[in-house]
Amino acid sequence: MKTSSALLLPLATNALASFGHGSGGHNFHTYPSIASCTHEPTFFSCENTTRVVNTCCSPTPGGLVLATQFWSTYTGLERKGQKLPKGSWTIHGLWPDNCDGSFDQYCDLSRQYDPAPSPTNFPNGTVIPVYKGPGVDTFIKHFGRGQLLDYTNGVVNKYWINQGALNEVFWAHEFSKHATCTSTFDVACYGQDYKRNAEVVDFFDAAIRAFQHFPTYNLLAAGGIVPSNKTTYKLNDLEAVVKSQTGATPFFGCVNNGTVLSEVWYFNHVFGTEQFGSFKSVDSTTPSTCTRSGKIWYPERTAGSEQDVEK
Ligand SMILES: *[C@@H]1O[C@H](CO)[C@@H](O)[C@H](O)[C@H]1NC(C)=O
Ligand SMILES: *[C@@H]1O[C@H](CO)[C@@H](O)[C@H](O)[C@H]1NC(C)=O
Ligand SMILES: *[C@@H]1O[C@H](CO)[C@@H](O)[C@H](O)[C@H]1NC(C)=O
Ligand SMILES: *[C@@H]1O[C@H](CO)[C@@H](O)[C@H](O)[C@H]1NC(C)=O
Repeated sequence: MKTSSALLLPLATNALASFGHGSGGHNFHTYPSIASCTHEPTFFSCENTTRVVNTCCSPTPGGLVLATQFWSTYTGLERKGQKLPKGSWTIHGLWPDNCDGSFDQYCDLSRQYDPAPSPTNFPNGTVIPVYKGPGVDTFIKHFGRGQLLDYTNGVVNKYWINQGALNEVFWAHEFSKHATCTSTFDVACYGQDYKRNAEVVDFFDAAIRAFQHFPTYNLLAAGGIVPSNKTTYKLNDLEAVVKSQTGATPFFGCVNNGTVLSEVWYFNHVFGTEQFGSFKSVDSTTPSTCTRSGKIWYPERTAGSEQDVEK
């Protein structure tokens, strides 16, 4: 999707004007234009795929929306202040799977902000270009949303944590690999008033909102399942505890041959846009990689890798 240079010129000026003001600067609105959606029939994504829809109003294809999270025990960048949130899992991303569970990636190379594309190539061999421009954290600052970034108070640096590299590299990866395949974040949906990178900021907000729907740490703890280096758990119990509170079975992922819990994916159908819509939990389409019969560790974090986020 191309934007004319006539449109970009005043934007660049606005971006510069706000930049020096930090979080005290003007907050530009980042609304997609959903006025036309108010006249569309309404339904949950993946629940009536025969209907022709305005793809700005409902994620299409890619209507099976996965809110994904990690449980890890360290970041490797603790000395830079990049720590894990005490009493919380962390955000992985918000993925637009097709209704059958297959998925696309890196759907718009004009919005490729990932400095380390993974995979490095499309199946046909075409290389996914490496991004060398300013980090997506600068996009957030341009919109006067710098408060999102604060390490102790900002939501993204508290809960969207990378391992072995800076957090903003991970956010860029998630946007360019996944959100460029989510139709409601298409530049065309932002209409005439589009401000460059508005949809990137909207994606970060949407991923945070989805994450907050599923407080995994608390969901599990309410069923007596807490991190422990002394006790193990059973997959059936993890699934039952979550299902009793969300109505659906998520995907649990494990490492070390299925014995160490490391991730969870919550599958959803979305009513309306990913920016503002409501989520309905549906069962995972992917078999768990955790052992069904054996013992599962839900390890405590490494000493010094956590920070208190409740302040
Ligand atoms: C899907 O939408 C079409 C067009 O509005 C409608 O005729 C049909 O009954 C819908 N199907 C289901 C299963 O809701
Ligand atoms: C290779 O695949 C990508 C992604 O599907 C596509 O954009 C590109 O045009 C393809 N290139 C060739 C040479 O077919
Ligand atoms: C992995 O787990 C399977 C099933 O629990 C077991 O049969 C196998 O021996 C394990 N492999 C290793 C390398 O531990
Ligand atoms: C718990 O075990 C994990 C995995 O072996 C380890 O990384 C972590 O440091 C341990 N935490 C504590 C508090 O002992």
